[in-house]
Amino acid sequence: MSSAPPLELVGLSKSFGTVKALHGVDLSVRRGEIHGLVGQNGSGKSTLVKVLSGYHAPDRGGVIKVDGHVLGSQAKLRHLRDAGVAIVHQDLGLVLEKTVAENIAVGSFSAGRFSRRVDWRREQQRAAEVLDRLESAIDPRAPVGDLDVADRSIVAIARALRAQRPGRGLIVLDESTRALPKHALEDFYRALRGVVSAGGAALMISHNLEEVMQVTDRVTALRGGAIVGGTVPTSATTERELAERMLGRAIEELVHTVGDVASGDDRLVVEGLAGRLLAGVDLTVQPGEVLGVTGVAGAGWDELPYLLTGARPARSGTLLLDGERLDLTSAGPARCIAAGIALVPEHRIADGVAVTLSVADNITLPRVGSNGKPWRIGSRWQQTETQDVLAALDVRPRRADVPVGQLSGGNQQKVMLGKWLQGRPRLLALHEPTQAVDVGARQDILRAIAATASRGVAVVVASIQPADLAAVCNRVLVLHEGRVTSEISAPTEDGIVEAVYAGRLMLSAHEG
Ligand SMILES: Nc1ncnc2c1ncn2[C@@H]1O[C@H](COP(=O)(O)OP(=O)(O)OP(=O)(O)O)[C@@H](O)[C@H]1O
Ligand SMILES: [Mg+2]
Repeated sequence: MSSAPPLELVGLSKSFGTVKALHGVDLSVRRGEIHGLVGQNGSGKSTLVKVLSGYHAPDRGGVIKVDGHVLGSQAKLRHLRDAGVAIVHQDLGLVLEKTVAENIAVGSFSAGRFSRRVDWRREQQRAAEVLDRLESAIDPRAPVGDLDVADRSIVAIARALRAQRPGRGLIVLDESTRALPKHALEDFYRALRGVVSAGGAALMISHNLEEVMQVTDRVTALRGGAIVGGTVPTSATTERELAERMLGRAIEELVHTVGDVASGDDRLVVEGLAGRLLAGVDLTVQPGEVLGVTGVAGAGWDELPYLLTGARPARSGTLLLDGERLDLTSAGPARCIAAGIALVPEHRIADGVAVTLSVADNITLPRVGSNGKPWRIGSRWQQTETQDVLAALDVRPRRADVPVGQLSGGNQQKVMLGKWLQGRPRLLALHEPTQAVDVGARQDILRAIAATASRGVAVVVASIQPADLAAVCNRVLVLHEGRVTSEISAPTEDGIVEAVYAGRLMLSAHEG
Protein backbone atom coordinates (compact mmCIF):
# COMPACT_ATOMS: atom_id res chain seq x y z
CA MET A 1 0.00 0.00 0.00
CA SER A 2 1.57 3.32 -1.00
CA SER A 3 1.81 6.02 1.62
CA ALA A 4 1.15 8.92 -0.76
CA PRO A 5 -2.29 10.51 -0.43
CA PRO A 6 -4.85 9.16 -2.92
CA LEU A 7 -5.44 12.72 -4.16
CA GLU A 8 -3.42 15.89 -3.85
CA LEU A 9 -4.16 19.14 -5.62
CA VAL A 10 -1.62 21.96 -5.55
CA GLY A 11 -2.35 25.45 -6.83
CA LEU A 12 -5.14 24.25 -9.10
CA SER A 13 -6.90 26.97 -11.13
CA LYS A 14 -9.45 26.92 -13.92
CA SER A 15 -10.81 29.89 -15.84
CA PHE A 16 -13.64 30.09 -18.33
CA GLY A 17 -12.90 33.29 -20.20
CA THR A 18 -12.99 35.92 -17.49
CA VAL A 19 -14.70 33.65 -14.93
CA LYS A 20 -12.23 32.16 -12.46
CA ALA A 21 -14.07 28.99 -11.48
CA LEU A 22 -11.13 27.67 -9.42
CA HIS A 23 -8.41 29.78 -7.92
CA GLY A 24 -5.22 28.27 -6.47
CA VAL A 25 -6.85 25.28 -4.81
CA ASP A 26 -4.71 23.11 -2.50
CA LEU A 27 -6.47 20.00 -1.30
CA SER A 28 -5.32 16.67 0.03
CA VAL A 29 -7.50 13.60 0.53
CA ARG A 30 -6.05 11.03 2.94
CA ARG A 31 -6.26 7.29 2.70
CA GLY A 32 -9.02 5.89 4.88
CA GLU A 33 -11.07 9.08 5.04
CA ILE A 34 -14.34 10.39 3.69
CA HIS A 35 -13.51 13.98 2.81
CA GLY A 36 -16.42 16.39 2.49
CA LEU A 37 -16.37 19.24 -0.03
CA VAL A 38 -18.98 21.95 0.43
CA GLY A 39 -19.64 25.28 -1.24
CA GLN A 40 -22.31 27.62 -2.52
CA ASN A 41 -23.87 27.04 -5.96
CA GLY A 42 -21.30 28.06 -8.54
CA SER A 43 -18.35 27.90 -6.12
CA GLY A 44 -16.40 25.51 -8.37
CA LYS A 45 -17.07 22.03 -6.91
CA SER A 46 -18.12 20.34 -10.16
CA THR A 47 -15.38 22.18 -12.03
CA LEU A 48 -12.86 20.63 -9.64
CA VAL A 49 -14.32 17.19 -10.36
CA LYS A 50 -14.28 17.78 -14.12
CA VAL A 51 -10.67 18.94 -14.03
CA LEU A 52 -9.76 15.79 -12.10
CA SER A 53 -11.60 13.62 -14.62
CA GLY A 54 -9.79 15.26 -17.52
CA TYR A 55 -12.96 16.78 -18.96
CA HIS A 56 -11.53 20.29 -18.44
CA ALA A 57 -7.83 21.12 -18.76
CA PRO A 58 -6.69 23.18 -15.74
CA ASP A 59 -4.88 26.51 -16.14
CA ARG A 60 -1.10 26.30 -16.31
CA GLY A 61 0.83 25.73 -13.12
CA GLY A 62 -1.57 23.57 -11.13
CA VAL A 63 -0.62 20.04 -10.09
CA ILE A 64 -2.88 17.01 -9.66
CA LYS A 65 -1.33 13.99 -7.94
CA VAL A 66 -3.06 10.66 -7.66
CA ASP A 67 -1.32 8.16 -5.36
CA GLY A 68 1.74 10.37 -5.52
CA HIS A 69 1.90 10.34 -9.34
CA VAL A 70 1.50 13.61 -11.19
CA LEU A 71 -1.23 13.44 -13.79
CA GLY A 72 -0.31 15.07 -17.08
CA SER A 73 -1.72 18.48 -17.95
CA GLN A 74 -4.91 16.69 -18.78
CA ALA A 75 -5.74 13.48 -16.95
CA LYS A 76 -6.28 10.47 -19.12
CA LEU A 77 -9.17 8.20 -18.37
CA ARG A 78 -6.83 5.23 -18.42
CA HIS A 79 -4.54 6.75 -15.74
CA LEU A 80 -7.47 7.42 -13.50
CA ARG A 81 -8.82 3.94 -13.97
CA ASP A 82 -5.43 2.36 -13.24
CA ALA A 83 -5.20 4.39 -10.05
CA GLY A 84 -8.70 3.28 -9.07
CA VAL A 85 -10.29 6.73 -9.27
CA ALA A 86 -14.03 6.43 -9.86
CA ILE A 87 -16.23 9.48 -10.28
CA VAL A 88 -19.97 9.88 -9.95
CA HIS A 89 -20.73 13.13 -11.78
CA GLN A 90 -23.49 15.52 -10.76
CA ASP A 91 -25.54 14.50 -13.82
CA LEU A 92 -24.75 10.79 -13.15
CA GLY A 93 -23.45 10.20 -16.69
CA LEU A 94 -25.50 7.07 -17.40
CA VAL A 95 -26.52 5.74 -20.81
CA LEU A 96 -30.29 5.55 -20.59
CA GLU A 97 -30.74 3.07 -23.45
CA LYS A 98 -28.35 0.57 -21.87
CA THR A 99 -29.15 -1.87 -19.10
CA VAL A 100 -28.20 -1.51 -15.44
CA ALA A 101 -25.49 -4.19 -15.80
CA GLU A 102 -24.06 -2.55 -18.93
CA ASN A 103 -23.88 0.82 -17.21
CA ILE A 104 -22.23 -0.63 -14.14
CA ALA A 105 -19.70 -2.49 -16.30
CA VAL A 106 -18.61 0.55 -18.35
CA GLY A 107 -14.90 1.16 -17.95
CA SER A 108 -14.14 -2.11 -16.18
CA PHE A 109 -15.39 -4.94 -18.37
CA SER A 110 -14.22 -8.41 -17.63
CA ALA A 111 -13.20 -9.45 -21.11
CA GLY A 112 -11.94 -12.89 -22.09
CA ARG A 113 -8.11 -12.91 -22.10
CA PHE A 114 -7.81 -14.00 -25.70
CA SER A 115 -11.08 -13.15 -27.34
CA ARG A 116 -11.38 -9.66 -25.71
CA ARG A 117 -15.09 -10.23 -25.78
CA VAL A 118 -17.07 -8.91 -22.91
CA ASP A 119 -18.42 -11.67 -20.71
CA TRP A 120 -21.92 -10.35 -20.15
CA ARG A 121 -23.08 -13.15 -17.93
CA ARG A 122 -20.20 -12.36 -15.59
CA GLU A 123 -20.92 -8.63 -15.80
CA GLN A 124 -24.52 -9.22 -14.85
CA GLN A 125 -23.41 -11.26 -11.87
CA ARG A 126 -20.92 -8.56 -10.81
CA ALA A 127 -23.62 -5.91 -11.14
CA ALA A 128 -25.92 -8.01 -9.00
CA GLU A 129 -23.18 -8.39 -6.37
CA VAL A 130 -22.46 -4.71 -6.07
CA LEU A 131 -26.18 -3.85 -6.04
CA ASP A 132 -26.50 -6.41 -3.28
CA ARG A 133 -23.88 -4.54 -1.23
CA LEU A 134 -26.19 -1.54 -1.52
CA GLU A 135 -29.15 -3.72 -0.49
CA SER A 136 -30.80 -2.73 -3.74
CA ALA A 137 -33.38 -4.84 -5.57
CA ILE A 138 -32.86 -3.20 -8.99
CA ASP A 139 -32.94 -5.72 -11.84
CA PRO A 140 -29.52 -5.70 -13.59
CA ARG A 141 -31.28 -6.35 -16.92
CA ALA A 142 -33.58 -3.31 -16.73
CA PRO A 143 -32.83 -0.36 -19.06
CA VAL A 144 -31.62 2.59 -16.96
CA GLY A 145 -34.10 4.86 -18.74
CA ASP A 146 -36.94 3.03 -16.99
CA LEU A 147 -35.59 3.79 -13.51
CA ASP A 148 -36.50 6.74 -11.31
CA VAL A 149 -33.85 9.19 -10.18
CA ALA A 150 -33.21 7.41 -6.87
CA ASP A 151 -32.50 4.11 -8.62
CA ARG A 152 -30.40 5.82 -11.28
CA SER A 153 -28.24 7.33 -8.53
CA ILE A 154 -27.80 3.88 -7.03
CA VAL A 155 -26.66 2.53 -10.42
CA ALA A 156 -24.12 5.35 -10.79
CA ILE A 157 -22.86 4.73 -7.26
CA ALA A 158 -22.72 0.98 -7.91
CA ARG A 159 -20.60 1.62 -10.98
CA ALA A 160 -18.12 3.60 -8.88
CA LEU A 161 -18.04 0.92 -6.17
CA ARG A 162 -17.56 -1.73 -8.85
CA ALA A 163 -14.34 0.01 -9.91
CA GLN A 164 -12.82 -0.04 -6.40
CA ARG A 165 -10.02 -2.42 -5.47
CA PRO A 166 -9.40 -3.19 -1.79
CA GLY A 167 -6.73 -1.04 -0.22
CA ARG A 168 -6.52 1.68 -2.86
CA GLY A 169 -8.37 4.09 -5.01
CA LEU A 170 -10.60 7.09 -4.59
CA ILE A 171 -14.31 7.47 -5.07
CA VAL A 172 -15.58 10.96 -5.95
CA LEU A 173 -19.26 11.74 -5.44
CA ASP A 174 -20.72 14.98 -6.82
CA GLU A 175 -24.05 15.26 -5.01
CA SER A 176 -24.81 11.64 -5.67
CA THR A 177 -26.90 11.03 -2.59
CA ARG A 178 -29.46 13.78 -3.09
CA ALA A 179 -32.23 11.61 -4.51
CA LEU A 180 -31.80 8.64 -2.20
CA PRO A 181 -34.48 7.80 0.34
CA LYS A 182 -33.46 7.33 3.96
CA HIS A 183 -33.06 3.56 4.02
CA ALA A 184 -31.00 3.54 0.80
CA LEU A 185 -28.77 6.25 2.26
CA GLU A 186 -27.93 4.15 5.27
CA ASP A 187 -27.01 1.18 3.07
CA PHE A 188 -24.86 3.44 0.93
CA TYR A 189 -23.03 5.01 3.89
CA ARG A 190 -22.24 1.54 5.18
CA ALA A 191 -20.85 0.44 1.79
CA LEU A 192 -18.79 3.64 1.49
CA ARG A 193 -17.38 3.26 4.98
CA GLY A 194 -16.42 -0.29 4.02
CA VAL A 195 -14.48 0.96 0.98
CA VAL A 196 -12.52 3.61 2.88
CA SER A 197 -11.75 1.48 5.91
CA ALA A 198 -10.28 -1.11 3.54
CA GLY A 199 -7.75 1.55 2.51
CA GLY A 200 -9.64 3.55 -0.10
CA ALA A 201 -10.76 7.17 0.20
CA ALA A 202 -13.74 9.28 -0.78
CA LEU A 203 -14.31 12.90 -1.77
CA MET A 204 -17.95 13.65 -1.17
CA ILE A 205 -19.68 16.81 -2.42
CA SER A 206 -23.01 17.56 -0.78
CA HIS A 207 -25.38 20.43 -0.09
CA ASN A 208 -26.87 18.45 2.75
CA LEU A 209 -24.79 19.71 5.65
CA GLU A 210 -26.45 17.34 8.08
CA GLU A 211 -25.17 14.49 5.94
CA VAL A 212 -21.70 16.06 5.75
CA MET A 213 -21.59 16.29 9.56
CA GLN A 214 -22.76 12.71 9.93
CA VAL A 215 -20.66 10.94 7.30
CA THR A 216 -17.37 12.77 6.68
CA ASP A 217 -14.10 12.69 8.64
CA ARG A 218 -12.72 16.01 7.42
CA VAL A 219 -14.27 18.80 5.44
CA THR A 220 -13.17 21.60 3.10
CA ALA A 221 -15.24 24.58 1.95
CA LEU A 222 -14.99 26.43 -1.37
CA ARG A 223 -16.18 29.98 -1.87
CA GLY A 224 -15.87 31.73 -5.22
CA GLY A 225 -13.43 29.09 -6.46
CA ALA A 226 -11.02 29.35 -3.51
CA ILE A 227 -10.73 27.33 -0.32
CA VAL A 228 -11.83 29.14 2.82
CA GLY A 229 -10.50 28.21 6.23
CA GLY A 230 -8.51 25.16 5.08
CA THR A 231 -9.44 21.56 5.76
CA VAL A 232 -10.78 20.82 9.24
CA PRO A 233 -11.80 17.68 11.12
CA THR A 234 -15.58 17.41 10.88
CA SER A 235 -15.82 16.85 14.63
CA ALA A 236 -14.23 20.27 15.16
CA THR A 237 -16.94 22.18 13.30
CA THR A 238 -20.72 22.56 13.26
CA GLU A 239 -23.38 22.69 10.57
CA ARG A 240 -23.93 26.39 11.20
CA GLU A 241 -20.23 27.17 11.07
CA LEU A 242 -19.88 25.31 7.78
CA ALA A 243 -22.83 27.15 6.27
CA GLU A 244 -21.35 30.48 7.32
CA ARG A 245 -17.95 29.57 5.96
CA MET A 246 -19.24 28.58 2.53
CA LEU A 247 -21.77 31.41 2.19
CA GLY A 248 -19.62 34.10 3.77
CA ARG A 249 -22.57 35.21 5.85
CA ALA A 250 -24.70 33.96 8.71
CA ILE A 251 -27.99 32.30 7.90
CA GLU A 252 -31.00 32.52 10.12
CA GLU A 253 -32.88 29.40 11.03
CA LEU A 254 -35.68 28.67 8.58
CA VAL A 255 -38.49 28.60 11.08
CA HIS A 256 -41.75 29.11 9.39
CA THR A 257 -42.52 29.80 5.79
CA VAL A 258 -45.92 28.15 5.92
CA GLY A 259 -48.54 30.75 5.10
CA ASP A 260 -52.22 30.98 6.01
CA VAL A 261 -54.84 29.26 3.95
CA ALA A 262 -57.73 31.44 2.83
CA SER A 263 -61.14 30.09 3.66
CA GLY A 264 -63.62 29.65 0.87
CA ASP A 265 -64.00 27.29 -2.02
CA ASP A 266 -61.38 24.78 -3.05
CA ARG A 267 -59.09 26.13 -5.70
CA LEU A 268 -58.31 22.74 -7.12
CA VAL A 269 -60.30 19.53 -6.99
CA VAL A 270 -58.81 16.33 -8.40
CA GLU A 271 -60.86 13.16 -8.62
CA GLY A 272 -59.95 9.56 -9.38
CA LEU A 273 -56.44 10.25 -10.58
CA ALA A 274 -54.57 7.14 -11.72
CA GLY A 275 -51.32 6.65 -13.61
CA ARG A 276 -48.66 4.01 -13.89
CA LEU A 277 -48.42 3.46 -10.14
CA LEU A 278 -51.00 5.90 -8.85
CA ALA A 279 -54.17 3.94 -8.24
CA GLY A 280 -56.98 6.45 -7.78
CA VAL A 281 -56.31 9.57 -5.72
CA ASP A 282 -58.69 12.39 -4.78
CA LEU A 283 -57.29 15.66 -3.51
CA THR A 284 -58.19 19.30 -3.02
CA VAL A 285 -56.07 22.42 -2.65
CA GLN A 286 -57.36 25.69 -1.22
CA PRO A 287 -56.30 29.16 -2.25
CA GLY A 288 -52.99 29.95 -0.59
CA GLU A 289 -52.37 26.35 0.34
CA VAL A 290 -49.21 24.35 -0.33
CA LEU A 291 -50.02 20.64 -0.47
CA GLY A 292 -47.15 18.15 -0.14
CA VAL A 293 -47.13 14.59 -1.45
CA THR A 294 -44.56 11.99 -0.45
CA GLY A 295 -43.88 8.33 0.29
CA VAL A 296 -41.25 5.70 -0.42
CA ALA A 297 -39.92 5.17 -3.94
CA GLY A 298 -42.42 3.39 -6.14
CA ALA A 299 -45.48 4.53 -4.19
CA GLY A 300 -46.69 6.72 -7.03
CA TRP A 301 -46.59 10.13 -5.31
CA ASP A 302 -43.89 11.38 -7.68
CA GLU A 303 -46.19 10.87 -10.67
CA LEU A 304 -48.59 13.50 -9.39
CA PRO A 305 -46.85 16.65 -10.72
CA TYR A 306 -46.69 15.15 -14.22
CA LEU A 307 -50.24 13.81 -14.29
CA LEU A 308 -51.68 17.07 -12.92
CA THR A 309 -49.97 19.14 -15.60
CA GLY A 310 -50.68 16.96 -18.65
CA ALA A 311 -46.99 16.11 -19.00
CA ARG A 312 -48.01 12.44 -18.81
CA PRO A 313 -51.45 11.13 -19.71
CA ALA A 314 -53.44 9.77 -16.77
CA ARG A 315 -55.20 6.41 -16.82
CA SER A 316 -58.17 8.17 -15.30
CA GLY A 317 -58.89 11.41 -13.51
CA THR A 318 -60.38 14.86 -13.79
CA LEU A 319 -59.19 18.19 -12.53
CA LEU A 320 -61.38 21.12 -11.61
CA LEU A 321 -59.49 24.40 -11.38
CA ASP A 322 -61.54 27.50 -10.55
CA GLY A 323 -64.56 25.86 -12.11
CA GLU A 324 -62.78 24.81 -15.31
CA ARG A 325 -62.84 21.05 -15.83
CA LEU A 326 -60.05 19.11 -17.55
CA ASP A 327 -59.98 15.43 -18.38
CA LEU A 328 -56.43 14.41 -17.47
CA THR A 329 -56.45 11.33 -19.69
CA SER A 330 -56.50 13.53 -22.78
CA ALA A 331 -55.75 17.14 -21.79
CA GLY A 332 -52.04 17.16 -22.72
CA PRO A 333 -49.45 19.83 -21.79
CA ALA A 334 -50.64 22.55 -24.19
CA ARG A 335 -54.19 22.65 -22.81
CA CYS A 336 -52.91 22.50 -19.26
CA ILE A 337 -50.54 25.42 -19.83
CA ALA A 338 -53.39 27.37 -21.43
CA ALA A 339 -55.46 26.68 -18.30
CA GLY A 340 -52.71 28.22 -16.14
CA ILE A 341 -51.09 25.00 -14.95
CA ALA A 342 -47.29 24.97 -14.58
CA LEU A 343 -44.77 22.22 -13.89
CA VAL A 344 -41.31 22.37 -12.35
CA PRO A 345 -39.99 18.89 -13.18
CA GLU A 346 -37.28 16.88 -11.52
CA HIS A 347 -35.12 16.31 -14.59
CA ARG A 348 -34.05 19.82 -15.23
CA ILE A 349 -31.87 19.10 -18.24
CA ALA A 350 -34.28 16.70 -19.94
CA ASP A 351 -37.56 18.50 -19.29
CA GLY A 352 -36.97 21.80 -17.57
CA VAL A 353 -34.50 24.13 -19.24
CA ALA A 354 -33.17 24.63 -22.75
CA VAL A 355 -29.43 24.52 -22.11
CA THR A 356 -28.43 26.22 -25.34
CA LEU A 357 -30.79 29.17 -24.86
CA SER A 358 -29.89 32.17 -22.74
CA VAL A 359 -30.99 32.70 -19.17
CA ALA A 360 -33.35 35.48 -20.34
CA ASP A 361 -35.01 33.31 -22.97
CA ASN A 362 -35.47 30.45 -20.54
CA ILE A 363 -37.07 32.64 -17.89
CA THR A 364 -39.42 34.55 -20.16
CA LEU A 365 -40.34 31.88 -22.72
CA PRO A 366 -43.68 31.00 -21.10
CA ARG A 367 -44.85 34.61 -21.34
CA VAL A 368 -43.58 35.57 -24.77
CA GLY A 369 -47.02 34.91 -26.24
CA SER A 370 -48.96 37.04 -23.76
CA ASN A 371 -46.47 39.91 -23.64
CA GLY A 372 -46.46 40.96 -27.21
CA LYS A 373 -45.14 39.45 -30.38
CA PRO A 374 -42.49 36.75 -30.48
CA TRP A 375 -40.23 38.95 -32.59
CA ARG A 376 -40.08 41.36 -29.70
CA ILE A 377 -37.88 38.95 -27.76
CA GLY A 378 -35.07 40.90 -26.16
CA SER A 379 -37.36 43.80 -25.39
CA ARG A 380 -37.58 45.69 -22.16
CA TRP A 381 -40.15 43.56 -20.27
CA GLN A 382 -37.99 40.53 -20.88
CA GLN A 383 -34.93 42.23 -19.40
CA THR A 384 -36.85 43.47 -16.36
CA GLU A 385 -38.43 40.11 -15.66
CA THR A 386 -35.12 38.31 -16.01
CA GLN A 387 -33.33 40.70 -13.68
CA ASP A 388 -36.14 40.25 -11.11
CA VAL A 389 -35.69 36.48 -11.12
CA LEU A 390 -31.90 36.67 -11.02
CA ALA A 391 -32.08 38.96 -7.99
CA ALA A 392 -34.88 37.13 -6.16
CA LEU A 393 -33.12 33.77 -6.30
CA ASP A 394 -29.56 35.15 -6.29
CA VAL A 395 -28.57 33.47 -9.56
CA ARG A 396 -24.83 33.65 -10.22
CA PRO A 397 -23.47 35.03 -12.43
CA ARG A 398 -26.25 37.63 -12.58
CA ARG A 399 -26.25 37.73 -16.36
CA ALA A 400 -29.18 37.39 -18.72
CA ASP A 401 -27.21 36.51 -21.84
CA VAL A 402 -25.24 33.38 -20.89
CA PRO A 403 -26.48 30.00 -22.12
CA VAL A 404 -28.09 28.09 -19.25
CA GLY A 405 -25.79 25.13 -19.95
CA GLN A 406 -22.86 27.16 -18.63
CA LEU A 407 -24.42 27.70 -15.22
CA SER A 408 -23.66 25.44 -12.28
CA GLY A 409 -26.26 22.78 -11.43
CA GLY A 410 -27.86 24.77 -8.63
CA ASN A 411 -28.04 27.95 -10.67
CA GLN A 412 -29.78 26.07 -13.50
CA GLN A 413 -32.32 24.86 -10.96
CA LYS A 414 -32.94 28.46 -9.82
CA VAL A 415 -33.53 29.61 -13.41
CA MET A 416 -36.04 26.82 -14.00
CA LEU A 417 -37.92 27.71 -10.84
CA GLY A 418 -37.78 31.41 -11.50
CA LYS A 419 -39.38 30.93 -14.88
CA TRP A 420 -42.59 29.69 -13.23
CA LEU A 421 -42.52 31.53 -9.92
CA GLN A 422 -42.32 34.77 -11.85
CA GLY A 423 -45.47 34.00 -13.79
CA ARG A 424 -48.94 33.78 -12.36
CA PRO A 425 -50.01 30.19 -12.86
CA ARG A 426 -53.25 29.10 -11.22
CA LEU A 427 -51.77 25.75 -10.29
CA LEU A 428 -48.06 25.14 -9.78
CA ALA A 429 -46.82 21.55 -9.40
CA LEU A 430 -43.21 21.04 -8.35
CA HIS A 431 -41.04 17.95 -8.07
CA GLU A 432 -38.00 18.19 -5.74
CA PRO A 433 -37.82 21.99 -5.98
CA THR A 434 -34.70 22.38 -3.81
CA GLN A 435 -32.55 19.77 -5.51
CA ALA A 436 -28.97 20.80 -6.22
CA VAL A 437 -29.20 24.13 -4.39
CA ASP A 438 -27.09 25.26 -1.45
CA VAL A 439 -28.48 25.90 2.03
CA GLY A 440 -28.89 29.61 1.41
CA ALA A 441 -30.71 29.15 -1.90
CA ARG A 442 -32.89 26.45 -0.38
CA GLN A 443 -34.31 29.00 2.01
CA ASP A 444 -34.83 31.52 -0.80
CA ILE A 445 -36.69 28.89 -2.84
CA LEU A 446 -38.91 27.69 -0.01
CA ARG A 447 -39.81 31.30 0.79
CA ALA A 448 -40.55 31.97 -2.88
CA ILE A 449 -42.88 28.95 -3.03
CA ALA A 450 -44.73 30.16 0.07
CA ALA A 451 -44.99 33.64 -1.44
CA THR A 452 -46.41 32.21 -4.67
CA ALA A 453 -49.07 30.36 -2.69
CA SER A 454 -49.93 33.49 -0.74
CA ARG A 455 -50.77 35.20 -4.05
CA GLY A 456 -53.55 32.61 -4.41
CA VAL A 457 -51.78 30.02 -6.53
CA ALA A 458 -52.63 26.40 -5.69
CA VAL A 459 -49.28 24.69 -5.07
CA VAL A 460 -48.49 20.96 -5.01
CA VAL A 461 -44.99 19.88 -3.97
CA ALA A 462 -43.83 16.30 -4.50
CA SER A 463 -40.67 15.55 -2.55
CA ILE A 464 -38.75 12.82 -0.81
CA GLN A 465 -37.27 15.42 1.58
CA PRO A 466 -39.30 15.59 4.80
CA ALA A 467 -37.50 18.78 5.87
CA ASP A 468 -38.59 20.63 2.74
CA LEU A 469 -42.18 19.47 3.09
CA ALA A 470 -42.31 20.42 6.76
CA ALA A 471 -40.90 23.86 5.99
CA VAL A 472 -43.32 24.83 3.25
CA CYS A 473 -46.49 22.68 3.28
CA ASN A 474 -49.77 23.36 5.04
CA ARG A 475 -50.72 19.74 4.58
CA VAL A 476 -48.94 16.56 3.45
CA LEU A 477 -50.41 13.42 1.88
CA VAL A 478 -48.42 10.22 2.37
CA LEU A 479 -48.94 7.55 -0.29
CA HIS A 480 -48.36 3.82 -0.29
CA GLU A 481 -48.87 1.57 -3.28
CA GLY A 482 -50.58 4.28 -5.24
CA ARG A 483 -53.07 5.39 -2.59
CA VAL A 484 -53.18 8.03 0.10
CA THR A 485 -52.69 6.31 3.46
CA SER A 486 -52.32 9.32 5.73
CA GLU A 487 -52.93 13.02 5.71
CA ILE A 488 -50.86 15.23 8.00
CA SER A 489 -52.01 18.73 8.80
CA ALA A 490 -49.40 21.01 10.42
CA PRO A 491 -46.67 18.59 9.28
CA THR A 492 -43.33 18.21 11.08
CA GLU A 493 -40.24 16.46 9.76
CA ASP A 494 -40.55 13.62 12.29
CA GLY A 495 -44.25 13.26 11.67
CA ILE A 496 -43.66 12.82 7.94
CA VAL A 497 -40.83 10.31 8.36
CA GLU A 498 -42.95 8.32 10.78
CA ALA A 499 -45.96 8.22 8.44
CA VAL A 500 -43.80 7.19 5.48
CA TYR A 501 -42.08 4.36 7.33
CA ALA A 502 -45.05 3.24 9.38
CA GLY A 503 -46.86 2.54 6.12
CA ARG A 504 -43.84 0.71 4.75
CA LEU A 505 -43.69 -1.59 7.78
CA MET A 506 -47.41 -2.15 7.65
CA LEU A 507 -47.21 -3.21 4.02
CA SER A 508 -44.26 -5.54 4.51
CA ALA A 509 -46.06 -7.11 7.48
CA HIS A 510 -48.97 -7.82 5.15
CA GLU A 511 -46.69 -9.32 2.54
CA GLY A 512 -44.73 -11.38 5.08
N1 LIG B 1 -18.41 25.29 -19.48
C1 LIG B 1 -18.46 26.44 -18.80
N2 LIG B 1 -18.33 27.63 -19.42
C2 LIG B 1 -18.36 28.78 -18.73
N3 LIG B 1 -18.51 28.87 -17.39
C3 LIG B 1 -18.65 27.73 -16.71
C4 LIG B 1 -18.64 26.44 -17.36
N4 LIG B 1 -18.79 25.49 -16.43
C5 LIG B 1 -18.89 26.13 -15.23
N5 LIG B 1 -18.80 27.48 -15.39
C6 LIG B 1 -18.85 28.49 -14.32
O1 LIG B 1 -17.91 28.12 -13.32
C7 LIG B 1 -18.40 28.41 -12.03
C8 LIG B 1 -18.35 27.17 -11.14
O2 LIG B 1 -19.33 26.25 -11.58
P1 LIG B 1 -19.47 24.78 -10.95
O3 LIG B 1 -20.38 24.01 -11.83
O4 LIG B 1 -18.12 24.22 -10.69
O5 LIG B 1 -20.18 25.11 -9.55
P2 LIG B 1 -20.63 24.13 -8.38
O6 LIG B 1 -19.86 24.49 -7.15
O7 LIG B 1 -20.56 22.72 -8.83
O8 LIG B 1 -22.14 24.57 -8.14
P3 LIG B 1 -23.49 23.72 -7.87
O9 LIG B 1 -23.54 23.49 -6.39
O10 LIG B 1 -24.58 24.65 -8.27
O11 LIG B 1 -23.44 22.46 -8.66
C9 LIG B 1 -19.79 28.99 -12.23
O12 LIG B 1 -19.69 30.39 -12.21
C10 LIG B 1 -20.18 28.50 -13.61
O13 LIG B 1 -21.11 29.37 -14.21
MG1 LIG C 1 -21.97 21.27 -9.25
